[in-house]
Amino acid sequence: MSTLQEEISRRRTFAIISHPDAGKTTLTEKFLLYGGAIAQAGAVKGKKNARAAVSDWMEIEKQRGISVTSSVMQFQYEGFCINILDTPGHQDFSEDTYRTLMAADSAVMVIDGSKGVEAQTRKLFKVCAMRHIPIFTFVNKMDREAKDPFDLLDELENELGIETYAVNWPIGCGKEFQGVYNRRGQHIDFFSGVSGKRRADREEVLLDDPRVGELIGADRWQQLRDDVELLGAGREFDMDEVRRGRLSPVFFGSALTNFGVEPFLEAFLQMTPPPLSRTADCGVIDAFSPDFSAFVFKIQANMNKAHRDRLAFLRICSGKYEREAEVFHVQGGRKLRLSQPQQLMAQEREIIDEAYAGDIIGVFDPGIFSIGDTITTPGKKFRFAGIPTFPPEHFSRVSPKDTMKRKQFVKGTEQIAQEGAIQIFKVPDTGMEEVIVGVVGTLQFDVFRYRMHSEYGVELRMEGLPYEVLRYIRKSPVEEKELNLSSDVELLEDYRGHKLLVFSSPWAIDFTLRRNPGLELVETLQEL
Ligand code: G4P
Repeated sequence: MSTLQEEISRRRTFAIISHPDAGKTTLTEKFLLYGGAIAQAGAVKGKKNARAAVSDWMEIEKQRGISVTSSVMQFQYEGFCINILDTPGHQDFSEDTYRTLMAADSAVMVIDGSKGVEAQTRKLFKVCAMRHIPIFTFVNKMDREAKDPFDLLDELENELGIETYAVNWPIGCGKEFQGVYNRRGQHIDFFSGVSGKRRADREEVLLDDPRVGELIGADRWQQLRDDVELLGAGREFDMDEVRRGRLSPVFFGSALTNFGVEPFLEAFLQMTPPPLSRTADCGVIDAFSPDFSAFVFKIQANMNKAHRDRLAFLRICSGKYEREAEVFHVQGGRKLRLSQPQQLMAQEREIIDEAYAGDIIGVFDPGIFSIGDTITTPGKKFRFAGIPTFPPEHFSRVSPKDTMKRKQFVKGTEQIAQEGAIQIFKVPDTGMEEVIVGVVGTLQFDVFRYRMHSEYGVELRMEGLPYEVLRYIRKSPVEEKELNLSSDVELLEDYRGHKLLVFSSPWAIDFTLRRNPGLELVETLQEL
């Protein structure tokens, strides 16, 4: 195998998704510990007394108390070169979170064993499912009281519409959690160890070994054997189904105490695919092709206010990137050299000389890139399939406090929307004195307000609107303005003139459709 082939085949690029507090950061941190990328627990999270926080590209934003970024980390483990894409939780949730999933080849879904599937997981899962990428489930916090594992599997299947296969099975939970049964190896991994240790001590004992009875008690041993039998009667493992994203391998463990984390990482790395081929307008681009290609999945503006610079994040889709090499920016129609290519290696951001398919690099963007742009080896002019826009769920009516600032207001809103941080709409037949801003996560409103003030000198008047769902009008039986709309629905248009409706609840959609026979609505622009 050539070096190129070897380098690409050892890469694994995945996103971690979860509802806030399920343990995503803790799990990521344990991965980095095992990979030797960090030496101490707490380093990722940036706890008060710990070392620098790394899961955040935007230190400046953090000082301002606004963290808006999804971060990327690379580390090595047992010969694999792993790129983890973190997806921010809580109110930092934004379209970027969704876009990050476009750059991943698989996803790890972290679930809190006592809570099961929660709202944010459901949303992120939907995007992964849309891409048919493999989804691995880690049921965390088994050292606490957890739901019955069979019930958890049912919940995953019913709530998310994906089949599951338990790769291992927990032995007890809460204080009684002692380990997991490994179905493939038919042995039990007993764990003992304390939080913060580099690895939990792990001991393998075969299920039928009488020592198991001594270790966990006769009743629990019997229960385990019954559970294992019941699982055996269920569905079989099918790697093809995993690869198609239709079957999720499920692992149980406790990230905090290290129980089950390393067996999970090992099995997961064996099951996840190396960089996947991507579809472009000229056909499928093989990741292992020697020609470099990449697409921009995220743009981060204003890392450094003094320079007004932007950082474009590229997912390399094929071949090898070399620092000095010329590349072709397809949408811009010109050749260029990527400037200051950098990667986040666990704790530091480093300028890199080369990177391979599967890797994520950040490059300095003088304002030429847009989300979804393709960058190739000169001479190749294909475009990767675009990144979908995700429907906003929060809306505000926005205007400048000072009407004299109208020009800056228009410029700022348009530029920030072009970067993909917000989506802007207007009421048909009105000017730009007032826009309707739509976002996926409410923190984006604060960031927008902040940036309009600091970068464009415009103070905003913002009025929250009660809408939470958007639908584009594909077909209208009458002129859109004549539609029969109730007071909780509003007609808007985007800046390319597409008409759409915003609703205060999903039920209002049905109601509107019933009142307007012949009206056709779609969720995304792509479906128009
Ligand atoms: P997130 O990134 O998904 O939001 O979750 P994070 O890892 O920050 O974990 C959320 C809380 O859950 C943290 O506690 C963390 O210590 C705890 N946690 C994570 N994994 C486990 C686990 O396996 N078992 C138990 N019992 N707890 C777990 P916190 O009190 O919010 O923060 P901290 O002060 O402990 O850091």
